Amino acid sequence: MTHVVHRPHPHDSGPLHVTGTAPYVDDLPTPANALHACFGLAPVGHATIDTLDLSAVWAAPGVVDVVTAADIPGENNAGPVIHDEPLLADGTILFPGQALFCVFAETRLAARKAARLFTLESTELPALTTVDEAVEAHSFLHGPLVFERGDVSKAIEDADYSSSSRLYIGGQEHFYLEGQGSLALPSADGLHIISSTQHPSEIQDLVAEALNISAAEVTVEVRRMGGAFGGKETQAAPLSIIAALGANRTGRAVRFRLDRDDDFVLTGKRHDFRADIRVGFDASGLIKGVDGILASRCGYGHDLSRAINDRAMFHADNAYFYPALELTSLRAKTHTVSNTAFRGFGGPQGMMLAERLVDKVAAAVHRDPLDVRLANLYNETDRSVTPYGMTIEDNVLPQLMPQLAETSDYRARRAAIIDANASAGRSPVRRGIALTPVRFGISFTTSFLNQAGALINIYKDGSILLNHGGTEMGQGLFVKVAQVAAEVLGVGLDDVKISSTRTDKVPNTSATAASSGSDLNGWAAKLAALELRNRLTAFWCAEQGIDGGLTFAQGRVSTEDGQSWPFAEVVRAAYMGRVSLSATGYYRTPKIDWDAKTGQGRPFLYFAYGAAVSEVEIDTLTGANRVIRADILHDVGRSLNPDIDHGQIEGGFVQGMGWLTMEELVYSARGDVLTHAPSTYKIPCASDRPDVLNIDLFDNANAEDTIFKSKAVGEPPLMLAISVHSALAHAVSSFSPRGRWPDLDAPATAEEILRTIATERTQAL
Ligand code: MTE
Ligand code: MOS
Repeated sequence: MTHVVHRPHPHDSGPLHVTGTAPYVDDLPTPANALHACFGLAPVGHATIDTLDLSAVWAAPGVVDVVTAADIPGENNAGPVIHDEPLLADGTILFPGQALFCVFAETRLAARKAARLFTLESTELPALTTVDEAVEAHSFLHGPLVFERGDVSKAIEDADYSSSSRLYIGGQEHFYLEGQGSLALPSADGLHIISSTQHPSEIQDLVAEALNISAAEVTVEVRRMGGAFGGKETQAAPLSIIAALGANRTGRAVRFRLDRDDDFVLTGKRHDFRADIRVGFDASGLIKGVDGILASRCGYGHDLSRAINDRAMFHADNAYFYPALELTSLRAKTHTVSNTAFRGFGGPQGMMLAERLVDKVAAAVHRDPLDVRLANLYNETDRSVTPYGMTIEDNVLPQLMPQLAETSDYRARRAAIIDANASAGRSPVRRGIALTPVRFGISFTTSFLNQAGALINIYKDGSILLNHGGTEMGQGLFVKVAQVAAEVLGVGLDDVKISSTRTDKVPNTSATAASSGSDLNGWAAKLAALELRNRLTAFWCAEQGIDGGLTFAQGRVSTEDGQSWPFAEVVRAAYMGRVSLSATGYYRTPKIDWDAKTGQGRPFLYFAYGAAVSEVEIDTLTGANRVIRADILHDVGRSLNPDIDHGQIEGGFVQGMGWLTMEELVYSARGDVLTHAPSTYKIPCASDRPDVLNIDLFDNANAEDTIFKSKAVGEPPLMLAISVHSALAHAVSSFSPRGRWPDLDAPATAEEILRTIATERTQAL
């Protein structure tokens, strides 16, 4: 029996969050002599820099230092994988809003004012800004990835029916509540950087490379982020590196926080995609072959685009077996901001292709889309191998989806909705419903990242300090890992002190990403705690002459025959007996192997599953829409903390709803992000939460040996929101001719819904 894991515990910072007292980077006390940094941003898009005159910037009140690319001692780069992202523009402006220089001044306002005083002469160069333009011009970051099985053309030609369509899927701004922020402190040991980052070790490396110093001279620390969602995996680096440069040059602390508009313009977003789909199927809706092309806007540089587009490919089948297939992924290079990780990491865009395809098929064969979904699911016999050669062994969707259909009363509600739409008459209201599944692969597909470390110190008074490489961004990682340590050491959760992530405590860590934070750091912490427990056990058994083992539970150490001592007493004795009370744990994910060159292997340790039923209502006069009810059944294995997981599911779903319904990034023809503030970019608010939202956990121990049999939960629920998009299309389809499914793009804004209704009405004439 467990005492601390598998139980609800509130987020360790919950009270601080809700009272607004949790300190973020920019809330830390400012050192007396701190400088404030601000970037000067390019007012033009793709262009050569002819002259950049900074004399007025230098002369502005309060300015202490100004740096350009030429002032970077080492490498002028923030690119994490391929070094193609300059920190500061060098000769060429690659996208509108690129940082040209950075000014350091006595106050934040002085820095911001001075940063606008430059004069730039530039020569405009041709710019490709959209996926369509870039694909047309063959502008790609690197070659395509192709998955193939069988003869897809023949499979589609031989099939009873086929369908072709194109789907545009919009990007998404992270809109973390805490903007990007950093504080660089010169210290006797080198540079100490406090950053709002998911990836402290990468910042450490990039700072060292840019400053030409060793990684050992740089310490990066993060206590918490005010939301990250993938937007602080790589995008925190430029600020931290430039703050470090300023601190190094001036010997003063440097504080750097992006203004929200600058944050919008300067940092990458979710990739927008264009999906071209051709599918062959039989009269029952069974898929025979799929020919798909996924093209995405990567922006000017690589960032994480390779892995993100790979993941779009890994999920372009979502839960369905494609007997014959050709899937091609095109990574468009454009003169726009370099796009980056966002919850789901390309997976959501890939799944949109699969779900659209199934809806098309279902409409064509006049079946309930749920039946077509069920019929095409992977199974564990002859339909179990993915396009990349991994055999699926843990599929729970054949049980999970019918269970959800039952509890949500999907069939009866769908029938009622179809009737109501048919008899709506002059009423402008139409409704729609859809049940869609999620199957999300867990592990970094860049295999070497699947490792983690933890450090546990037990002090003489029996108190426990926990440290690990994962970062806290609101997802509840810290409380989960603390639960693991408390469980193994048999103490209460309150007896484990959680501490900031620091590169000098646990080195060479991976980003907290790919939803694997608790899988990786949880195991590392478990191993460290087991090591300490074993040392204590060996010592105490010898000391007390005990045969057999000891159990550690509820703050006591006990023998099988009922003798017991307080944990702190055993610890104290162990110290006196010269037993080391500090241990590290190191974990690496087993079983995975993925060969990017052949496109084959086992990129994931396991899959997380879930499904959602969403019911929506649209106003066909205005296009306004809302989710009336959503029912979710989600598989988190044996939950480490059901309350935290519940919160992740709800938050992920609503964030996915925002992506697919209201969050619209609008760019100018030159690639400027025009929607760079909450006035023009709408994220869901509390009132957009579905009126009824039922969330249940699907009880199912992970088949793999994960930490206490749990499953990752951070990203998968976002994709449950695809049910909302599908339900909106269903509502619009009440205007479609029989057999047709509308080409509703994402986001399904009011305008997009009106446009699609108009198209369907014309088609019906
Ligand atoms: N939840 C909150 N509250 N804030 C966040 O920034 N990020 C998401 C998810 N849930 C995020 C969140 C993303 S993109 C990932 S990859 C995971 O959390 C990372 O944390 P984990 O690996 O510990 O789940
Ligand atoms: Mo999450 S997109 O993997 O940071």
